[in-house]
Amino acid sequence: MILSKALQSVTQTLRGAEIADASVEAELLLGHVLGMSKTRLYTEPERSLTSAETERLCHLVRRRLDREPAAYILGHCEFYGINFYVDSHTFIPRPETELLVEKAVELARRISHRGEQTIIADIGTGCGAIAISLALALPQARIYATDISPSALQVAEVNCRRHGVDGRVELLQGNLLEPLPRAVDMIVANLPYVRDCEFVDLSPEIREREPTIALAGGRDGLDKIREMLEQMRGKGGTFDAEGPTCLLLEIGQGQGEMVASLVGNYFQEASVELISDLGGVERVVKVEL
Ligand SMILES: C[S@@+](CC[C@H](N)C(=O)[O-])C[C@H]1O[C@@H](n2cnc3c(N)ncnc32)[C@H](O)[C@@H]1O
Repeated sequence: MILSKALQSVTQTLRGAEIADASVEAELLLGHVLGMSKTRLYTEPERSLTSAETERLCHLVRRRLDREPAAYILGHCEFYGINFYVDSHTFIPRPETELLVEKAVELARRISHRGEQTIIADIGTGCGAIAISLALALPQARIYATDISPSALQVAEVNCRRHGVDGRVELLQGNLLEPLPRAVDMIVANLPYVRDCEFVDLSPEIREREPTIALAGGRDGLDKIREMLEQMRGKGGTFDAEGPTCLLLEIGQGQGEMVASLVGNYFQEASVELISDLGGVERVVKVEL
């Protein structure tokens, strides 16, 4: 089969299975099998696929039809302009989380003391996307990245080495803030926030393929956020008493007011700002304590 026909046929197959963005996904799968960029796929339409290539393509298409996310099949995804290794042990970083990183970079630059290292904690780091993006954007920062899942941390370790930040990002296994060895200037977290009742509406790619521990936030979706606020209050030393203290949280649609009032319950003096994404959805809660 020639390339243009293969592209057409894979697109149709994926579309027939109601896979969103079928043409983009077909390009990704074909590009992966042939080791070609998207542009090259279209500049060499007459190139023939060998039988080994056709067989490999069919195998990947079958996996995709079986609702395995493309990022797991390809073994990587793009976040904040950076390529991350991912596998089924870790949540696939989402574009909406880039807003959290943007705001964290802005805030870290504002609070950084001249000449001193800013200490940041990324809680629930998954594949390390937030921690590594911050480390690359903020060469002066030191980052602690925690996760409850040892297998997610193994993925994060691969990514830290891949991006040369393993000296500045320390990976720590444990429950939320518990493994932090010292006070930090800023906490950034994209914790699980899917409400119990929302699971049925998730696509099978998410519900059946991504780790439940990365998604499930309990009845109102806020169990992990609540627990972390509790730990912050109890821990006292999590924040450097002398330095600026702040927290940035990603939240789900419709959770803004609830999280703002939750933060208010724990920290009466805190200034809380809800930041919306380009679609107008409140996505980030910025707390200055
Ligand atoms: C929504 S994912 C976010 C992953 C990554 N930060 C990102 O934005 O792509 C949530 C992460 O929190 C981790 N997690 C869940 N419960 C946790 C807990 N109690 N302590 C630490 N991490 C936890 C999960 O393993 C998962 O990696």
